[in-house]
Amino acid sequence: MVEALSRIIRYKQPLRSYTSFGVGGPAEVFAEPITRAELQGVLDFGKGQDLDIFTLGRGSNILVGDKGVSGLVVHLPDKSFNRVERRGSEMVVEAGVSLPLLIQKAADQGLGGLEVLVGIPGSLGGAVAMNAGGRYGTIEPLVKGVTTIGYDGEFHYYKRGDVSFGYRSSSLSDEIILEVELELSKDDKADIRKRMEGIHQEKNRTQPLSSRSAGCVFKNPEGCSAGALIDRSGLKGTQVGGAAVSTKHANFIINRGSATAAHILELIHNIREEVKKRFGVLLELEIKIW
Ligand code: EPU
Repeated sequence: MVEALSRIIRYKQPLRSYTSFGVGGPAEVFAEPITRAELQGVLDFGKGQDLDIFTLGRGSNILVGDKGVSGLVVHLPDKSFNRVERRGSEMVVEAGVSLPLLIQKAADQGLGGLEVLVGIPGSLGGAVAMNAGGRYGTIEPLVKGVTTIGYDGEFHYYKRGDVSFGYRSSSLSDEIILEVELELSKDDKADIRKRMEGIHQEKNRTQPLSSRSAGCVFKNPEGCSAGALIDRSGLKGTQVGGAAVSTKHANFIINRGSATAAHILELIHNIREEVKKRFGVLLELEIKIW
């Protein structure tokens, strides 16, 4: 391995502190490149070693298994992939930037649009890859262009229309998002803040925002809410080890401090069984399991 790479690549790196669930084992190989050239070197190394590649943002929508991840986990740190540049009513933002921080920055500059995503954690890259959103809107209509690097080390630029977005998904899930051009709208700062406060209050009332979780665990089935089905199955508060179904919103699983990934997986299994038995609906995971 070239000397520069040996400083970036680590082996058996514990991942729990990189995820919002706070559980799981180590990454077999872990890399935190701080420039695009280093990232290319890391991907080249992964290809040479025939490693599966996993892109880690702020870890707010994944469950890492207790045995860890077999492959190369690439993490873009927000201390380097963090440039935020305003161009008129647009923002050009690197993918490592925290989404909540970006929402604040846009509001401070009187740029509206992103406030519909208040309460959603994660990095901007993760938000675009997963088409983050909820009842108030998704990130999709704000995305004007995306620069990525494929796992083969090639850079790509996609303009609006070249990326397809679905419900918590996009066509960019198998490449690493580097930079996003966001088309926002000039708006009154006080009005943006008022909308943010309204959404925040609503979410805080209905979701366990300050607990360790990965947000909603299951996708909403066509025409109904997974949370409502789990709630009506009487599962709020159910526990397996240190993992519990939130009493505030039944589609959230909370790590009460001592959970392992096995506890969370068993709870997921139990929820799916019970909801299937009661309603004949097989819930699909929204979070990703590594
Ligand atoms: N409900 C219950 N019990 C519960 C939870 C919900 O009866 O424990 C009922 C609510 O009373 C409401 C309905 O179910 O009538 C829908 O609930 P909510 O408004 O909370 O929305 P949701 O469909 O459960 C979706 C997203 C959330 C997003 C919210 C708000 C999914 C899977 N969930 O939740 O996204 O924050 O709308 O916009 O799409 C996430 O993606 O991680 C996430 C949390």
